[in-house]
Amino acid sequence: MYKIPANTLFIGKNLIYVPECHSTNSLALELCQKTSVAEGTTVITDNQVKGRGQRGNTWFSEPNKNLTFSVVLKPTFLKPSEQFYLTIAISLALHDFLTQQVSDSVKIKWPNDLLINRMKTCGMLIENSIAGNMLQQSIVGIGLNVNQTTFLVDTATSMKLSSGREFNLPESLNLLLLNIEQRYLQLRNGNKQSLKTDYLNCLFGRNETRKFSDAEGVFEGVITGVTEEGKLLISKAGELKSYSLKEVIFL
Ligand code: BTN
Repeated sequence: MYKIPANTLFIGKNLIYVPECHSTNSLALELCQKTSVAEGTTVITDNQVKGRGQRGNTWFSEPNKNLTFSVVLKPTFLKPSEQFYLTIAISLALHDFLTQQVSDSVKIKWPNDLLINRMKTCGMLIENSIAGNMLQQSIVGIGLNVNQTTFLVDTATSMKLSSGREFNLPESLNLLLLNIEQRYLQLRNGNKQSLKTDYLNCLFGRNETRKFSDAEGVFEGVITGVTEEGKLLISKAGELKSYSLKEVIFL
């Protein structure tokens, strides 16, 4: 059973568990629309039946095997133009957690997929609302493959497949919530540049020649970094190009 984490200051202190729901992001959003919700409130389920992913995709997760949860944050210290820093902070929290748990190579695939041995282990869906000139609220939804061992696609993996051991879900949640709080506080304390440096050091494919495709076709390029707005910078035929999510595919 999930328990309120003892080590965090505010993340997970209000822990809402439902055995089943459509989507923890949608449920968290509904709660925020109905009542005033404390920062750090976390909604978790054992069986998410209509999980939402990036680019309108569906997120499938076998019941009782994985972590599917959403955390409500209030990053009112960030301007809308700085919202990618939240993606950076949460991706790094997942990276911190996974490197503590498994010995295989863990990387962040831009913008915010977590890879173990080049295979996807975790995805996140961050839904921000803006008030005036600042972010008002973020629903940070995380789908982490923990103990699932079979997948519909051969590009996915889990912590169990990587390590060969079974993980205790409530314990994993509490450790991960602590990692999230630490990276979020680093952001709240204004350490944006050190977060960006850490993110670039964990970025999959950085400084390697790889194949991509964009509107002009397939090309070989080198990821050199990300812009302040979170676009991916790729050196293509001697020219630096910036791409948003739908504009480039990793081959
Ligand atoms: C992706 O890689 O496409 C993002 C997947 C995000 C899935 C999580 S699971 C918990 C939360 N609730 C949702 O409906 N989606 C996110």
